[in-house]
Amino acid sequence: MSVHAAKRRLAPADIKALKGERPIVSLTAYTTPVAKLLDPHVDFMLVGDSLGMVLYGLDSTVGVTVEMMIAHGQAVMRGSSNACVVVDLPFGSYQQSKEQAFETAARVLKETGCSAVKLEGGGEMAETVHFLTQRGIPVLGHVGLMPQLINTTGGYRSLGRNDKEVEKIRKDAAAIEEAGAFAIVIEGTVEPVAREITAQVKVPTIGIGASPACDGQVLVVDDVLGIFTDFKPRFVKHFANLAPLMSEAFATYAAEVKARSFPGPEHTFQLKR
Ligand code: KIV
Repeated sequence: MSVHAAKRRLAPADIKALKGERPIVSLTAYTTPVAKLLDPHVDFMLVGDSLGMVLYGLDSTVGVTVEMMIAHGQAVMRGSSNACVVVDLPFGSYQQSKEQAFETAARVLKETGCSAVKLEGGGEMAETVHFLTQRGIPVLGHVGLMPQLINTTGGYRSLGRNDKEVEKIRKDAAAIEEAGAFAIVIEGTVEPVAREITAQVKVPTIGIGASPACDGQVLVVDDVLGIFTDFKPRFVKHFANLAPLMSEAFATYAAEVKARSFPGPEHTFQLKR
């Protein structure tokens, strides 16, 4: 037997235990090479259904399928060994019943090897979250702005701007905590409300367009890299500006191919004499 204990990935329980210890770091990941680069730096990677817009050019996350989430979940698992990996359940794959949610979540866990799923919803999804967490499926909740509801809410504006909205987000977070989620994403919610919820719930809150007081932060990786430039919400910060660098590289490649200066002798195979 080896004397070296294998280093294990962070688990949902480790993420939960970080509340009050230090800020939790998360980004989305969809591919193996990006997962490899992220793995040393994040506590958990989210294979978010934002991939529908970021990678596939869809208008919203509504068209994302379970098969897409599984393929990208597998890719991210292959590229990581340290971070906890959480995969989003896409629209229509869990809202119908708690049994449907269990079937989809179990399939995602089995086929990707990830440790947890994320699903959007507050009070209306609490019974489902309870059903999953009682049956071995760790759940990351998601309250506030819920992109999968775009067709009924009609837009991506930030929430918590009137008493009714504040009360709903508060109740949603409390219900999802009570149901057994190991952490809760708070998206697109005004700062004081996200701050107050963070102080009230015992599980970590992960903010995106929420508050620096949240127990952790998540962003979409293509936003962080400045690759996704279709639109830039207020809460996005480009930590790099790769889009112009990529355009420049593509233009140089095209020019060199046209000029026959690429491939050069160092890129071609010659016969040995
Ligand atoms: O799909 C996604 O990327 C998300 C965000 C919370 C980052 O759900």
